[in-house]
Amino acid sequence: MTSQPEVEIGYFPPPRDIGGCPFDPPPEVMRRQREEPVSRMRIWDGQEAWVITRYSDGRAVLSDDKRFSADPVHSGFPEKNVAYKTTLGKDRTIRAIDNPEHDRQKRMMIQDFTVKRVAQIRSKVEDLVDRLLEELLAGEQPADLVSRLAVTIPTMVICELLGVPYGDREFFGRRAKALLAAPTAERAAAAEADLLDYFERLIDLKTDSPANDLISRMVHQQVRPGHFARADLVRLSRLLLVAGHDTTAGMISLSVLLLLTRPEALAEVRDSDDPAFIANAVDEMFRYLGTTHAGRRRVAIAEVAIGDKVIRPNEGVIVLNNVMDRDETVFENPNELDFHRPNTRANVAFGYGIHQCPGQLLARMELQVVHAKLWKRVPTLALAVPMSDLTFVEDGSNFEVETLPVTW
Ligand code: HEM
Repeated sequence: MTSQPEVEIGYFPPPRDIGGCPFDPPPEVMRRQREEPVSRMRIWDGQEAWVITRYSDGRAVLSDDKRFSADPVHSGFPEKNVAYKTTLGKDRTIRAIDNPEHDRQKRMMIQDFTVKRVAQIRSKVEDLVDRLLEELLAGEQPADLVSRLAVTIPTMVICELLGVPYGDREFFGRRAKALLAAPTAERAAAAEADLLDYFERLIDLKTDSPANDLISRMVHQQVRPGHFARADLVRLSRLLLVAGHDTTAGMISLSVLLLLTRPEALAEVRDSDDPAFIANAVDEMFRYLGTTHAGRRRVAIAEVAIGDKVIRPNEGVIVLNNVMDRDETVFENPNELDFHRPNTRANVAFGYGIHQCPGQLLARMELQVVHAKLWKRVPTLALAVPMSDLTFVEDGSNFEVETLPVTW
C-alpha cells in the first residue's frame, strides 16, 4: 500500500449530488469513468483499492474468477464496512468463496430460485400487495411507504422462501439491518449471534417437520445425507435473509420515489396492462437506479492488466456495477430513464459472472407486482414533503431513502 495523502486519490464512496439528481451515481465516479476508468481510491479502513467504472472492464474482472477472488481471507480484500468484516465477511457462504466450492453450493439451492418456484410465490405477493394497498388507503395520511409497503413485501417473500415464520419478522428484520450496517463490530456480532441461534432452532424444527421451503429441502437433501454441513446451512440461511431483504425493500421505495419525480414515466407504467412492458420498465429502473452502489468487492490473486493499468496480487478491486450501467458505449443516452430501451436487460444491477444474484427473478417479480398495481390502485399518490426533506442513505451497502411520506 502506498502512503499518498487522501486528497490525491480520493475517498470511496464520494458524495452524490443529492440536491441535483440524487439518483445519479456520484459525479466523481462518473468523471473517473470518462477520464481514468481504472483508478485507485481509499476506503473506510484506510486501505486503497482499484475502482473499475467501465462496462467492459467490469465484466472482465467479474468473469475472471481464477485471477480475482471473492474470498475475504486474502489480504487486501476491500470489505464494505466494519459490520461486513465482522460477520458476513468471515462466512464460508457462496457470497465469499471461490470455485469449485462456490458452484457446488450454488447448485444445491438453485431449485428454490427457478421460474417455477418464483411463479408459485408471485400469487402470494399479488395478494399481499392488494391487501397492503387497501390498508394504506384506509389509513391516515401522510403514510410512510417504506414501512407500509416496501419492507413488508421482501420480508414475506423471504419467509416464504426459507420457511421462516412471518410472526418473527421484527426480530430478524432489526438484526438483518445491523449485520449490514451496525456502526461497531460489537453490535454487528451481537446481531449475528442472535440470528445464528435463531436459525439453529429453525433447522431443528425443519428436521422434524419439513415443509415446502429451502431450509427443509437443504436439511433433507443435503445436510442429512452428508453433502453439506449443518453449520454451513445456518450461515447460508442467514445470508439469504440478509441478501434478499434490504436490497429489495430499498429498491421498491427508491423506484416509487423515482416515478413520483417523473410524471411521464409514471403515466406510461400506470396506463400499461402489458406485463412485458412492466418487466422492461422494472429492468430499466434496476439499471438506472443502481442501488447496489457499494460495488462488487474482489481481490486480485494474480497479476492482471485491466484497461491501461496493472493490478497486482493482494490488491483490492471495487467493480462499480452502478457506474457500468451508465456506460454510453453500451446504453445509448445512459443517463436517461427510458422504459423502451431495447437492451436494458444487459444491465449488471445483479452482478455478473459466478456470483451473479440468484434472487434476481424473485426481486424482479416483486418490483413488477408493485408497479403493476400501485399506480392503478392509487393514481393520486404524491410525495407529502419536498424532495429536499428526504434522507438518503448514501454510505450503506445499498443506496436507499430512509422514509417515504406520501399522500393520495
Ligand atoms: C433489489 C434486489 C436485489 C439486488 C439489486 C441484488 C443484487 C445482488 C448483486 C449485485 C449480487 C452480486 C454480488 C457480487 O458479485 O459480489 C448479489 C448476490 C447475491 N444475492 Fe442478490 N440482489 C437482490 C435481491 C436478492 C434476493 C431477493 C435474494 C435472495 C432471496 C438475493 C440473494 C443473493 C445471494 C445469495 C447472492 C450471492 C450469490 C453468489 O455469491 O453466488 N438477492 N445480489
